[in-house]
Formats: sequence, C-alpha cells, structure tokens
Amino acid sequence: NWTMKSFIDNEIARIQQIIGPNGQVVGAVSGGVDSTVAARLMKEAIGDRFHAILVDNGLMRLNECETVKKNLGDHLGINLKVVDASEIFLDRLKGVTDPEKKRKIIGNTFIEVFESEALKIDQETKETGHCRIEYLLQGTLYPDVIESVSFKGPSATIKTHHNVGGLLEDMKLKLIEPLRELFKDEVRELGKTLKLDDELIWRHPFPGPGIAIRILGEVTPSQVAIVRAADHIYIDEIKKAGLYRKISQAYAALLPVKAVGVMGDKRTYEQVITLRAVETVDFMTADWYSFPYDVLKKISNRIINEVKGVNRVVYDISSKPPATIELE
Ligand code: XMP
Repeated sequence: NWTMKSFIDNEIARIQQIIGPNGQVVGAVSGGVDSTVAARLMKEAIGDRFHAILVDNGLMRLNECETVKKNLGDHLGINLKVVDASEIFLDRLKGVTDPEKKRKIIGNTFIEVFESEALKIDQETKETGHCRIEYLLQGTLYPDVIESVSFKGPSATIKTHHNVGGLLEDMKLKLIEPLRELFKDEVRELGKTLKLDDELIWRHPFPGPGIAIRILGEVTPSQVAIVRAADHIYIDEIKKAGLYRKISQAYAALLPVKAVGVMGDKRTYEQVITLRAVETVDFMTADWYSFPYDVLKKISNRIINEVKGVNRVVYDISSKPPATIELE
C-alpha cells in the first residue's frame, strides 16, 4: 500500500532524526496492536536502542505473556525485557474488593515496576558507555490526543486509567508518539504493511488492569485460574465459529456469587461465569452481541464440563450505556 509505505518511511526517518545516532528509548508493551506497531516502528528505526518492557502483572490471559514474548522478542526481534511482577500485584490485591481500589493498586504498581525497570536499563546503558535513556515511547492514537486536549473522556473520569507521569518528571524523559496522528483502523493497516500476524492485528482490546476487573470480589490465584480457563474456551469457540472479527470485544468473568447445582447424584455449590460480547464502533456505546444459540450452548457445555469450580454460565445482555463494557 503506497500511502502506508510512505507513512512508514517518513515516520522511521522522523524517529531517527529525533532520537539521533546514539539515543536510547524505553517503552511498555502489552501485546496489543498499538504498542506492538509502535514498538515495531522503533525497532526498525533505532534497533536495540529501543528497550521494550513487558510487565507481567499475573493478570494477563492464559499463555498471553509467553505469546507476547514469542511474537515481539523471537519473531519481531525487538529488544524485550519481561518482568515477572505477578507476585507483587497479587499480593497487593489480597483482600481488596472495591473496583476503584483494585484499579488504583494495579495502576500504581504498574508504574512503580515499569519505572524501576526503566531506571535499571538507564543505569546499564550508562555503565556500558552508551547514552542514557532520554525518551519514553507511547502508543497514543489520535482519538486519545483529542480526548486529552479537549475534554476528559468518560473512561478517564469514570474509571481510573494508567499513566507514567512520574517517569517523565523524575527521569526527565521526553515523549515519542509515532501513532499520534492515526486512527485505530490506520494502525491496523500499518500493522498489516509491517507484516504483523492477523491474529495480533485483530486482537480485541484488553484493559490494563487485566482480568482483575473481570473477577468481581477478591482477586486470588485460584480465581485467576478459573477466569483464564473459561475465557480461553470462550474465545476459542468464538474463533472456531468464525465470529471473532464480527464481535468487537468478548470476555468471560467471574461473578461474586455461588449457586447450587447437581452433578451425578451430588449437590454442588459453585461459582457463576458470565460471558460478555459486544459490537461497537468507538467503545463509547456498545450493543450486546446476538449469539447463535448453538454457539452459546457449546460454550456453556464446555466451560461447565472443563472448568473446575463452575456450575453455571450466564450471558450478559446489557448495552452500554447504561452498562459499561467491563464489569468494574
Ligand atoms: P468500559 O468498561 O469503560 O470500557 O465500557 C471501554 C473500553 O476500554 C477498555 N478499558 C480499559 N483499557 N485500561 C485500558 O487500557 C483500562 O483501565 C481500561 N478499562 C476499560 C475496555 O476493555 C473497553 O474496550
């Protein structure tokens, strides 16, 4: 594609000019399309002088951390450091049930872990006689730019999101934002031109606080395991039915209740999984997705049979507004 190719060439030249021949850049990656495309551009422009950090918060989906490591590190050759901080996150979430408290703990811990890794890399580059870190990469898109300039968007005020403002102040980092003029569909096209996997390009959005906000009530390792297993089955069946691209976002979550069931000749008293799937253009409003019943039937049978600790599955039929896409 002509326009995308010229955008890439121009952007790489622009990055090289800003960063210079020795400059070093640090940035967080999540495995999502924005941060991956941004990281891929940086790699192309300045090679290993771009340092990507993936914070494993223990709240990513099944096998997700390994997949990101394979995609970005092995496949794309990005200079990637994976930090396993899952214990710190889960430890700080112990006993916490309030949604906003969960979000704040996760957001603050993320910033703390990311900053400390960035400082370590800064120290290492200094010790090896290289330039120190000067820039922070952010995968900001055009809609985020408008939102933060003209008004505080609903998700920014209703639910707490992350930012790494501390780094900018303490380390005096400057921002580099190669996607700041693009809309989401343009980022996807860019990803395609950069030969990223379709799987990655069309991945549903996944929130920063991860499955912590999909476990209503306390987040414990066993609850994380249940949601991961149920979500994996759900997404797997959606893909098998050929519906993944039609649905804008889908996930399984755990409700903070138990219900009675029967298994063989025994009474069970177990947890309830709720399934969410929405269609939306801008994620500001959304409709719940009308699943074919046979697909729902298969999903529910598999979750109840394969996930220990779950004896009921329900489907969320709430639109946004007044509901939100996530549960917390
Ligand atoms: P809600 O639940 O507000 O979600 O309807 C709208 C979209 O935003 C995503 N979301 C987040 N993304 N950090 C993120 O990066 C967050 O803290 C966060 N909270 C919600 C949500 O998954 C949906 O796509």
